Amino acid sequence: MTAEFKKIKVHYSDTGKGRVMVLLHGFLGSHKIWNEFIKILSKKFRIIAIDLPGHGETHSIGYYHSMELLAQSVKAVLDKVGVRRYVIAGHSMGGYTAMAFAELYPENVSGLCLVHSTSYADSEEKKKERERVIKLVKKEHKQFVAEMITSLFSSESFSKIPAQIENVKRIAASISKQSIISSLEGMKERKSRDLILKFAEYPVLFIIGKKDNIINYETMYSQIGLCKYPTVMMIENSGHMGFYESPKDSATELELFATRCFLKKFE
Ligand code: MLT
Repeated sequence: MTAEFKKIKVHYSDTGKGRVMVLLHGFLGSHKIWNEFIKILSKKFRIIAIDLPGHGETHSIGYYHSMELLAQSVKAVLDKVGVRRYVIAGHSMGGYTAMAFAELYPENVSGLCLVHSTSYADSEEKKKERERVIKLVKKEHKQFVAEMITSLFSSESFSKIPAQIENVKRIAASISKQSIISSLEGMKERKSRDLILKFAEYPVLFIIGKKDNIINYETMYSQIGLCKYPTVMMIENSGHMGFYESPKDSATELELFATRCFLKKFE
């Protein structure tokens, strides 16, 4: 299924019936990374999983994908589907997008789930690193993609879930150089959204991997402290990919969370 947005078609899947949960993949992902989650969660909810611009089957829009632009593409899908209130869950860059969405359209959000994601902007050091990576990708992107995927998982996962890791590699390998650069530029320039967490009148679930190489779990405590209604799931053996590294437990946590959000059982 597709929705029109700025002259491109944004692809998405729509599975199940009931209250709506929106799933946003991270950098180098696609809506397919959520397949296991969709199987579990669509028994109770209607799950809309979106290919963000430059990912999956959705084309890029120029060379700069701001988090606001990604959020607007998500809104185009949800408006086309005709839904007004939802729980929105985003993995990493999808979480940055979800926070930009919550800033632009707060009245549509019933709950926010950050899956290995952060409200912080890039530090100066991280920005420099992104610039280095962008230069490298401009010359040769395949090696970067292979190394990036390896860094997403905890070391145990390579023997435990090799088929899933191969799947992530396949999804990432189909992403164009232009899309990779647009995302890196957009993530580099994203602003801090601590205030979104601070003023959220809805619950926020943090799914955190203790072995995450991308988002250090210790940096999350101060963000959790900002929220009025936080819930935390810390996964001891997970890297950056909890929905693969601990799929049943994390899907169950998200299901319980969404139920609480929709029943307004958090005040
Ligand atoms: C992601 O997984 O979406 C990205 O690695 C996040 C980032 O680079 O900040």
